Amino acid sequence: MSYKDTLLSPLEIGRRTCANRFFAAPMECCDADSEGNPTDLTRARYERLFNGGYGMVCLEAISVTLESLARKHQLLITRSNEKPLSAFVKHIRAVNPEPLFIFQLTHSGELSDPTFSRSVTPRPLPGFGGELLTDKEMDKIVDQFVLAAKIANAVGADGVDIKLAGGYLGTQLLRPYNNRDWKYGGSWERRSRFAFEVFERIQKEIHDDRFLVGSKIAVWEGFPGGFGSPGLDSVVYDLTEPTALIKGLEERGATFFHESAGSPAATLDLATAGKRAPYFAYLHSCFARDIKKIVKVETVVIGSNYAVYGNGRNGLLAESPEEASVFAFGARNVEQGVNDMIALGRQSLADPFLPAKYRDGQEGEIDFCTLCDNCSELLIRQANIGCTTYNPYYRDVLKHTREQHGGALKIRH
Ligand SMILES: Cc1cc2nc3c(=O)[nH]c(=O)nc-3n(C[C@H](O)[C@H](O)[C@H](O)COP(=O)(O)O)c2cc1C
Ligand code: SF4
Repeated sequence: MSYKDTLLSPLEIGRRTCANRFFAAPMECCDADSEGNPTDLTRARYERLFNGGYGMVCLEAISVTLESLARKHQLLITRSNEKPLSAFVKHIRAVNPEPLFIFQLTHSGELSDPTFSRSVTPRPLPGFGGELLTDKEMDKIVDQFVLAAKIANAVGADGVDIKLAGGYLGTQLLRPYNNRDWKYGGSWERRSRFAFEVFERIQKEIHDDRFLVGSKIAVWEGFPGGFGSPGLDSVVYDLTEPTALIKGLEERGATFFHESAGSPAATLDLATAGKRAPYFAYLHSCFARDIKKIVKVETVVIGSNYAVYGNGRNGLLAESPEEASVFAFGARNVEQGVNDMIALGRQSLADPFLPAKYRDGQEGEIDFCTLCDNCSELLIRQANIGCTTYNPYYRDVLKHTREQHGGALKIRH
């Protein structure tokens, strides 16, 4: 089978079929209106992705509450957003009905920005703040996730990704660092309560066996006490709790897992491999393979951190650029049982049409991500996000943002 045949082959996921192995990763781009609803900018981005040839598209991190937002212009999924979200999904499906469309549900916890929102936390990491969450507040957050999943189902999404990655609340609860004695912390049974209850209730309360439920999981956060470490006194990669989590979520209806690692606020290169250490992306293949070994054969594993491979001229050791490209790495990982799909994050901003161009033999037309980190700078600075290398609109946004802040922001020191 050629690399192209592999990447363009269909895949069963739950009771659905995905047209190919390309997954548009959740990429928050901070262009919602003041009520958290999609704007013309949001619509334009997803129109591009829906025309881009992906088998599955994931809506960026959408917050289940207005209370704890990391971004000023983040998308929201509450009762009052139901109608605009419904119109949005209808609009996007009219562009192309083929791709599966899932929503990534999130709550920012201690990463919420207290200047316009409320920062809350199971237990703040050193250097972070936030009010300690109470049992009652967490019970309400569980309800908000379940309600958000119901809204996603009602507005026409094909499924939800309950975000347990990126250092946001889902992960903050799971990590051994959450050793406070409360209903959602301390023992593994309590730290996993949030994730297990949300999946269990979605399974019971949403009566739609075609609706997909899964999770992006940071299996190793890469600091002592982070998820995937045995405790606060060790950083060693320990699959005990990730295994218990993944098996427990499968028992509660999960049909896909999106591999992740690191926590951008603490271990950025691990979460999002960059120019400085592109080979950190290799670790993600190791983690994806570990998840693949744990799950049932029919459970779909989506690998991450493919931006660094690009067209193969990436500084990584390889016999030829062709064998080091995103297509070669992606296809081999599918063929070797490392992951079933490949997620494209930054690359989907750089060129949303990559899968379609690849399918149609237009590889020479693809704009590859240069790993310049400018989209991350826009994210940190609360601006509209997009690719500043290839999209003139976002180049202007970057220019104005830098003028406002008195210069560029160095992301990786
Ligand atoms: C600007 C930006 C926005 C992101 N937004 C999200 C998000 O909403 N949800 C999420 O799980 N990860 C988010 N990520 C992480 C990406 O989904 C992805 O895991 C990471 O960029 C590494 O993959 P890549 O090499 O394909 O870019 C974001 C990353 C960037 C740079
Ligand atoms: S702004 Fe830079 S890092 Fe971001 S997608 Fe474009 S080329 Fe890649």
